[in-house]
Amino acid sequence: MQYTSVTLSALALLGASHAAPAIKRQATLPASQETQEEIINLENTIVYLTNDIVQTNHESAVNDYNTAQSLFTGVQVDFPLETCGISAHQITITTAKEAITALNSTQNDLALLSLNLQNTASSQQTLQNDYCAAYWPFAATKNYVFDILGTPENGDSNQAVAASTNSQGYDPVKLGQTYTATEVALEALISALHNIPSGQPSSSQAKTAFTNAENTIATFSRAANASAPHSCPLDTVPGATDSQGAINEVYVVERAVQTAYADTTADNGKKLVDFCTISAYMSATDDYVKA
Ligand SMILES: *[C@@H]1O[C@H](CO)[C@@H](O)[C@H](O)[C@H]1NC(C)=O
Ligand SMILES: *[C@@H]1O[C@H](CO)[C@@H](O)[C@H](O)[C@H]1NC(C)=O
Repeated sequence: MQYTSVTLSALALLGASHAAPAIKRQATLPASQETQEEIINLENTIVYLTNDIVQTNHESAVNDYNTAQSLFTGVQVDFPLETCGISAHQITITTAKEAITALNSTQNDLALLSLNLQNTASSQQTLQNDYCAAYWPFAATKNYVFDILGTPENGDSNQAVAASTNSQGYDPVKLGQTYTATEVALEALISALHNIPSGQPSSSQAKTAFTNAENTIATFSRAANASAPHSCPLDTVPGATDSQGAINEVYVVERAVQTAYADTTADNGKKLVDFCTISAYMSATDDYVKA
């Protein structure tokens, strides 16, 4: 569906007249597997959109934006998108960094929505709050994605990852972008894993999310100048055997990604060890995900 600025302002008007949206009925919880899969597909699409921005792929970003928009509209929750209106704190996004930060926020609220849809005690208001909180930052990236990404106004961000590095050896333009993009991808992976009932094998959505996370980590490591082959200590991390075990391994990856970012910018000689940790725990996660 084409989402023009005309419909956006119509949405704003609708939002204003729906300050306290009427709640149709209490959703039946836990939500159906189908609804959950719609949200995970949306999260995987947010990962693609984030990577398009990192890679300055305008055409693909527009497509992925439109796909995410229709997934937001189609997700089977009891509150139509129109009831979200627009945020009172709507921000104007003009840089890749801001767009990716906004998508990180969208991803976290989608993950929260997915968890709350599994919890029979969630109120309809909580679910709607999560949904709208996820939608607003995404919608705020539209102008950037359609009109700024790839144009001269996008500045240094049009460069390829690792096209230029600073004296500390990392790409100062893309390091932060690829770092946040990695968080966006890992959040989608955790969400997909949370959606697998205990004792069940991995899902195709978790496999997709895992591959996306690996690709994003590879880009992050290029921006950090840590992708040249280097030897890692012998990997002794036990492989995950169920979805909860895999989630715990991904939490370690998340923390190691934060440390890798900090050590890269500090140029303290520790980043290669961090990337070894990331790779060991991704591999331990993979033992369950791709089994
Ligand atoms: C990037 O890493 C390689 C391998 O560790 C190193 O030889 C090179 O000097 C680094 N580049 C910069 C610009 O520091
Ligand atoms: C991404 O979102 C998470 C959760 O809100 C937050 O902890 C993290 O700092 C965010 N990352 C960036 C780079 O904004």
